[in-house]
Amino acid sequence: MEVAPVDLTPVDLTRRLAGRVVLVTGAGGGIGRATVARLTAEGAKVAASDLTAPDVPGAALTLELDVTRRAAWDSAIAEVQARLGPLDVLINGAGLAVTKDIEATTAEDLRRSLAVNLEGPFFGLQAGIAAMKARRAPHAAVIVNLASIAGQVAAVPLAAYAAAKAGLVGATRTAAIHCAEAGYPIRVVALCPGFVETAMLEGIAGSLGETEAMLGKLARRQPTGRLGTPEEVAAAVAFLASDDGAAITGEALIADGGFVAR
Ligand SMILES: NC(=O)c1ccc[n+]([C@@H]2O[C@H](COP(=O)([O-])OP(=O)(O)OC[C@H]3O[C@@H](n4cnc5c(N)ncnc54)[C@H](O)[C@@H]3O)[C@@H](O)[C@H]2O)c1
Repeated sequence: MEVAPVDLTPVDLTRRLAGRVVLVTGAGGGIGRATVARLTAEGAKVAASDLTAPDVPGAALTLELDVTRRAAWDSAIAEVQARLGPLDVLINGAGLAVTKDIEATTAEDLRRSLAVNLEGPFFGLQAGIAAMKARRAPHAAVIVNLASIAGQVAAVPLAAYAAAKAGLVGATRTAAIHCAEAGYPIRVVALCPGFVETAMLEGIAGSLGETEAMLGKLARRQPTGRLGTPEEVAAAVAFLASDDGAAITGEALIADGGFVAR
């Protein structure tokens, strides 16, 4: 990959992603919505997708994309490019948590988790690379995969989810080096949030005990003493997706309030 260094000064955050065309999956969820808002505020033209076209303020385009369907990826990216222009950034945000330990996980739980959390973004990597590899823009294209600390350390009540997210970090590294070695101007990165206040975490907490009590317990497990916010995750996504992240590829960035460091 040979992409000339970009001039990073002066940095105007309201224009950092000016005109960049972005596709976000899982955009109807907590982190997805915040990501659409953040990237839009930074000047991007954002296509927001989910199982059904999500109603997301600020999106330049909303569309349906079930990430588990390989062929649907090609039509979604074709639609985004026809309506908004060449794809600059893909955010693989769609995800699904099955709160079961390894003994309780059924074959169907495992398949469902792998389909959404690993196959989906893997298909996204394939479709994204195909769309971005011949680009001529002065900046690199970027694929950001929403992985998790569950892919970094043991997550006992989330056995299938942890396996999928660890796999996603492996796919990220492999795709990043593939792109670099093939000379494609594409960076591929993963972001590993900790416990973030969204419907997904509420679902996990509710499966483990009384929801509010469990959320409090999870918050106290993060050294910062609180849950992360979707906006904080979105800010990290924006950094990775922008030229400020130009030196970063094949990396899994942890944004967990210090959970893994403890
Ligand atoms: N909330 C957390 O604590 C946390 C922590 C680490 C990582 N993550 C990851 O961040 C991402 C966003 O999570 P969130 O907390 O906003 O969850 P969320 O449940 O609020 O949103 C997830 C979205 O993904 C969508 N989705 C599910 N299956 C899909 C499919 N087959 N095709 C397309 N969309 C599909 C859902 O409809 C939903 O809108 C996920 O990948 C999740 O695993 C979340």
